[in-house]
Amino acid sequence: MVRIAVIGAGHWGPNLIANFHDHRRSEVTWVVDLDRDRREAVTLRFPDIRVSDDAAAVIADPAVDAVVVATPTGTHFALASAALEAGKHVLVEKPMAANVADAEALCEIAEAAGRTLMVGHIFIYNGASQQAKGYLSDDELGRIYYVSMTRTNLGPIRVDVNAAWDLASHDIALASYWLDAEPVSVSATGRDWINPGVEDAVFATLRYPGDVLVHLHASWLHPSKTRDIIVVGEKRMLSFDDMSLTEPLRIYDKQVSPARTSSSFVDSLATFRMMVREGDIRIPKVPPSQPLRNECDHFLDCIESGATPITDGREGLAVVRVLEAINQSMREGGREVRIATRGG
Ligand SMILES: NC(=O)c1ccc[n+]([C@@H]2O[C@H](COP(=O)([O-])OP(=O)(O)OC[C@H]3O[C@@H](n4cnc5c(N)ncnc54)[C@H](O)[C@@H]3O)[C@@H](O)[C@H]2O)c1
Repeated sequence: MVRIAVIGAGHWGPNLIANFHDHRRSEVTWVVDLDRDRREAVTLRFPDIRVSDDAAAVIADPAVDAVVVATPTGTHFALASAALEAGKHVLVEKPMAANVADAEALCEIAEAAGRTLMVGHIFIYNGASQQAKGYLSDDELGRIYYVSMTRTNLGPIRVDVNAAWDLASHDIALASYWLDAEPVSVSATGRDWINPGVEDAVFATLRYPGDVLVHLHASWLHPSKTRDIIVVGEKRMLSFDDMSLTEPLRIYDKQVSPARTSSSFVDSLATFRMMVREGDIRIPKVPPSQPLRNECDHFLDCIESGATPITDGREGLAVVRVLEAINQSMREGGREVRIATRGG
């Protein structure tokens, strides 16, 4: 049994508490929250879990093996580093830290301590996105031209991080996982209509190696909840709608044939007919799965086996690098900003 303390029982924390509480390989020994109402809500739902407002005391408890950090981003570094230094394994929510320096330091602390550090990039553990990764790896779509990722809703409006850090962090993690690469540059625009300095909507274009473009639209100022991704490849195209429980993936047998380049005269309609191929649309079966459950399983697996998590500290750091570059680009009027990659 892995003995877990969850710090932060606001909107998201209770989902983590429930998963580790109900898991046959873990037990939740403590839940920490500064807010008394949140602690009372935990006690009502999980009467067997002890609650506290003192993170330092819980982190120091020898009866805790791992700490889950589900507090606002600005607190992640202090809590996660204290837990790692106390010899605990850590699952920290996204985004991993509020800046690159803190994210780098967290990786180093985890490596020096020899403890598991994992980041809660939940979309990597989604069954549909795993299946889509398989299609990309098996070259079903051919060379990838671009990916368009839309993640919107009306609220919740955060005051500590902007819409890119809150929402697009998921998409950046997923795009890099699918493409098996990190972006080399980004240009972004966004606006802070509601709270000064905190962009409510962000539009960013990431450039990946091999001329792949990834466009991100992240907004909490939008009439509807959308989690839409389109991948356009040379051979086929794919859509991933995370709002669809039963049919999240579609594969479009659509392509533009190279014939378009052979026309030596201007006959726009004929050229158009020649170059576009519209085949079947396939809806692959995606077995139901619970992404958070998969994520918690993976954390426990890595603690037990010593394996490196798919979303380890270095992966979380790479996402924070992109987020920091998005902020820089927005502040510099959309200038294309280069991003340091893991390789240097
Ligand atoms: N993986 C996902 O899909 C997902 C979804 C939502 C939120 N999140 C992430 O989870 C984290 C928390 O988000 P949320 O929406 O639950 O925020 P929230 O504001 O609703 O809850 C945060 C809680 O942390 C508590 N807290 C703050 N500082 C603390 C401290 N030092 N010690 C103990 N408790 C403290 C607050 O009292 C609050 O109850 C964020 O990093 C967010 O990005 C992830």
